[in-house]
Amino acid sequence: MDEKYNFKCEVFDSLSNLPDEIAVLIQAAQSQMDRAYAPYSKFYVGAALLLEDGRTYLGCNQENASFPLCMCAERVALYNAGADNDSFRIKALAITAKNPAKPLKEICMPCGACRQVIREFEERQKAEIPLYLSSDGNHIIKLDGISPLLPHSFSKDFLL
Ligand code: THU
Repeated sequence: MDEKYNFKCEVFDSLSNLPDEIAVLIQAAQSQMDRAYAPYSKFYVGAALLLEDGRTYLGCNQENASFPLCMCAERVALYNAGADNDSFRIKALAITAKNPAKPLKEICMPCGACRQVIREFEERQKAEIPLYLSSDGNHIIKLDGISPLLPHSFSKDFLL
């Protein structure tokens, strides 16, 4: 894996170098990839988020024969947490992906739409959401929040 990133992040070589609850969260995201419904792309994404109160929400990509209706793993997990709670605080979000047809050379990054949705959840809780991205389980990058991946973003500040 190429470990050079032009944004602020920490790179970990192993789950054992992370706090236990984060390692467990990443493993939950990895397991969740196997539940993805991805018969068209055969690209499997898992997401797991940890709330401050210790609860975990999971997501995996859900595809549709009408391709634009496909939903990303990150949004499945985030919207599930949003639907289930009035107020909540996300302590960490783990995202992992695999392409069985082609070993990934780089850690898979969240798509633009999901970056925007993560941004909204950061706004909602008025705090950044630490992100743990991994694709092979051996390399993990941690970002303090979404802003390095979505600079100069659109937000409610333009609306209200
Ligand atoms: N996908 C995600 O689940 N998250 C992303 O951030 C990028 C893409 C899914 C959507 C689709 O099911 C498949 O990966 C290929 O684009």
